[in-house]
Amino acid sequence: MKVISVANQKGGVGKTATAFNLAGALSEMGHRVLLVDLDAHAGLTGILGYDSETLDKTIYEYIYNPEGKNLADYILGTEFPQIDFIPASQGLEAIDTELADVADWHSTLSRGLREIAIPAGSSTRRYDFVIFDNQPRMSRLMIMSLMASQLALIPFLAEIDSVNPLKHLLRNIHQIRESNPDLVVKILPVMVQAHLGHDKAVMQLLREELSDHLLESFIKRTKKVPDAHSLGKPIVLTNRRHPVAIAYREATEEILKYV
Ligand SMILES: Nc1ncnc2c1ncn2[C@@H]1O[C@H](COP(=O)(O)OP(=O)(O)OP(=O)(O)O)[C@@H](O)[C@H]1O
Ligand SMILES: [Mg+2]
Repeated sequence: MKVISVANQKGGVGKTATAFNLAGALSEMGHRVLLVDLDAHAGLTGILGYDSETLDKTIYEYIYNPEGKNLADYILGTEFPQIDFIPASQGLEAIDTELADVADWHSTLSRGLREIAIPAGSSTRRYDFVIFDNQPRMSRLMIMSLMASQLALIPFLAEIDSVNPLKHLLRNIHQIRESNPDLVVKILPVMVQAHLGHDKAVMQLLREELSDHLLESFIKRTKKVPDAHSLGKPIVLTNRRHPVAIAYREATEEILKYV
């Protein structure tokens, strides 16, 4: 079971879209995927048709006190047979302070995933991939998801003033690699407007300065992405032949080289 954390401390940079489309593309390839919403705003939970306020079993209740609980009991189904899901709720807003006195908080999700990797009484794994959709903050929550992951996938909105925050994020993630040395870090440029000189310049800067981490694939901007979300689906499954659906599929294939 491979674990991918979609992370960036900036908001609105395509984390949820990337996590959802990655899940869609992996499911098309025949993989079984567990998506986990780690954002208090519960955007992915909403896209998947759940109202986080009415759910009593969300990732928050598990993380707040995992003692005696099994993460598998928090899994919900989706309309996609190959994709399951653990929802988020607003409680996650406060989790960073709530965990302040918990000694081993950083391994909560790693331990939780061990419980679902191979279910009791079974000899086969239940999921091929777990994908965490993170909140836009370098928080305990993001750290614990990166601690449980083999790949940190960073969607990067091609803006010139995002390059320094990106470098800052990479430095933070490198610190996490001291405890999780197998963590690979890859950057996926998203919402790129390739015809604009500005976006071309930003892409060139990334290639010059961060080539070790940069994926070759990139995702262009199209309204079809939010349109698909309003139908509860990723663009890879609604507009299969759209260039952005194809690009998300290519990005997924590229990512598979690293996990
Ligand atoms: N390739 C794209 N083209 C156009 N719009 C996109 C694309 N990818 C994502 N979007 C839209 O941009 C907005 C922000 O994307 P998304 O919610 O995935 O970002 P996020 O990083 O998860 O945000 P947050 O930090 O608030 O959780 C959403 O309305 C989403 O539908
Ligand atoms: Mg999001």
